[in-house]
Amino acid sequence: MSLDTTDFDRKVLIAPSILSADFAELGAECRAVEAEGADWVHVDVMDGHFVPNLTFGAPVAKCIRPHIRTVMDVHLMIAPVDPLLEDFAKAGADYITAHVEAGPHIDRTLQAIRALGCKAGVALNPGTPAETIEYVLDRIDLILVMSVNPGFGGQSFIPAVVPKIEILRRMIGDRPIHIQVDGGVTPETAPLVTAAGANCLVAGSAVFKGGSVADPSAYGRNIRAIREAAEAARVRA
Ligand code: DX5
Ligand code: ZN
Repeated sequence: MSLDTTDFDRKVLIAPSILSADFAELGAECRAVEAEGADWVHVDVMDGHFVPNLTFGAPVAKCIRPHIRTVMDVHLMIAPVDPLLEDFAKAGADYITAHVEAGPHIDRTLQAIRALGCKAGVALNPGTPAETIEYVLDRIDLILVMSVNPGFGGQSFIPAVVPKIEILRRMIGDRPIHIQVDGGVTPETAPLVTAAGANCLVAGSAVFKGGSVADPSAYGRNIRAIREAAEAARVRA
């Protein structure tokens, strides 16, 4: 794995969300999706406060880290976020993404993530405008565009976020920043987001459906279907 921006490109990356995995088998699930073609593993952390659901914290992230050989992509749906950043860095996160809505000091949060040696991501809820991050672009490595309201897997994609992806893609210009989309990504919706300029697709239910650690071949079929649909519509610029 390389986090060096000198080899940055905009190829399509598929990041399965382990929110849809069997939580009793998290390590094996991470190994299975990677063996079946995942580029990154997306780890959803929810606090029952910023979002109306609870998942797990840094101790669990630390336990699954040895089972991830690619990139551990941690999406923090928690507020306040700053007090827990160090725990997730120590747990081995490669990317740490915080929500712009989770506190008043996103610039400080992003600086703290990089100071901990991680790549910094910023997430935008569906109702949050692109302009909220216009002045922190030089502090970020990833923009996560939520295409559902965060909290649960298996929700329907919100098409109103597509024009926001286009705005963000223009806004970042040549900066080495991934545009990630999270929520309701399927082979049907993937082309909409890559045509708009996204390159990193998070998918939970659409990856894990029909498979298991005992029989993970469906994961591979699902990942390939999303990737092929995404690449066919991808913006080359
Ligand atoms: C939602 C999470 C997503 C979610 C995606 O709050 O951030 O990562 O698990 O799940 P699907 O792909 O099922 O919409
Ligand atoms: Zn997520």
